[in-house]
Amino acid sequence: MISTQIKEFTFQNCLMNASGALCMTEKELSALLDSNSGSLVTKSCTMNYREGNESPRYFETELGSINSMGLPNLGIEFYMKYSIENQSEKPIFLSIAGLSLEENILMLEKIQDSSFIGLVELNLSCPNIAGKPQTGYDFERTNEVLEKVFSFYKKPLGVKLPPYFDEIHFNEMASILNKFPLYFVTCINSVGNGLYIDFETESVVIKPKNGFGGIGGKYVKPVALANVRKFYTLLNKDISIIGCGGIENGQDAFEHILCGASMLQIGTQLMKEGVSVFDRIHTELQDIMIHKNYNSIADFKGKLMNL
Ligand code: DHB
Repeated sequence: MISTQIKEFTFQNCLMNASGALCMTEKELSALLDSNSGSLVTKSCTMNYREGNESPRYFETELGSINSMGLPNLGIEFYMKYSIENQSEKPIFLSIAGLSLEENILMLEKIQDSSFIGLVELNLSCPNIAGKPQTGYDFERTNEVLEKVFSFYKKPLGVKLPPYFDEIHFNEMASILNKFPLYFVTCINSVGNGLYIDFETESVVIKPKNGFGGIGGKYVKPVALANVRKFYTLLNKDISIIGCGGIENGQDAFEHILCGASMLQIGTQLMKEGVSVFDRIHTELQDIMIHKNYNSIADFKGKLMNL
């Protein structure tokens, strides 16, 4: 009932993890693979192993989360090998987040030359590396990156974007993305460089960057919905939207799809609840669809009404 499609890829259901959430180690990835998710994405990786930032680097709040992980990951060889060895009827997304264009190209060359048959999520929006701007906020650079990537890379690829807040920025980014044969666009990464504080102790709650970090969860849902909606209306219809941001229950999932999402990623709530979150949200979304008389996602995808 909630199966979905991104070009030639069919997913048994539209739910998956967001990159970063429980997807770094073999154990975590296998739990996702065995779960009721329709897909999974690996932790954003670099060429080589990275330890990441100092702890504490992740903190849960009543309404969401703040993180400054600093790209801890086991290196591309591990994630590529894992995704090749576990390719099944559950397609796998491989997330890459090189610290430079050159590093991304090197990783994509490796993937191109391998027997990987999944999708690459090219992360243009990590907010937690001190001194490294988020590529997605530099329009010229984003255009240059995509030109270089598509000059040689021929396998299925999409991009993960940061949130935008300005009409002009939506239009500019969409007109760049529309020039390329992207499979999907994931909206949104965390809202970068937020600050959460502990009122009692009068201090920040994570150690890196004096407490500044990416915000997820309930705080970001309206921003996520706006980005999904904008890009759904602005992008060529053959570029699918993957919605990410503040999905905690079936209603949140329904709203993302109504805005135009074909697939849904769960980050903060997966961290809070573990992989059983997929069973719960699956059931809740199905119940809503039954109640509203919808048989498939296509029946309401993108059909948000204006007043
Ligand atoms: C990290 C955080 C992100 O939001 C992201 O897109 C990539 C990496 C991190 O801090 O590890």
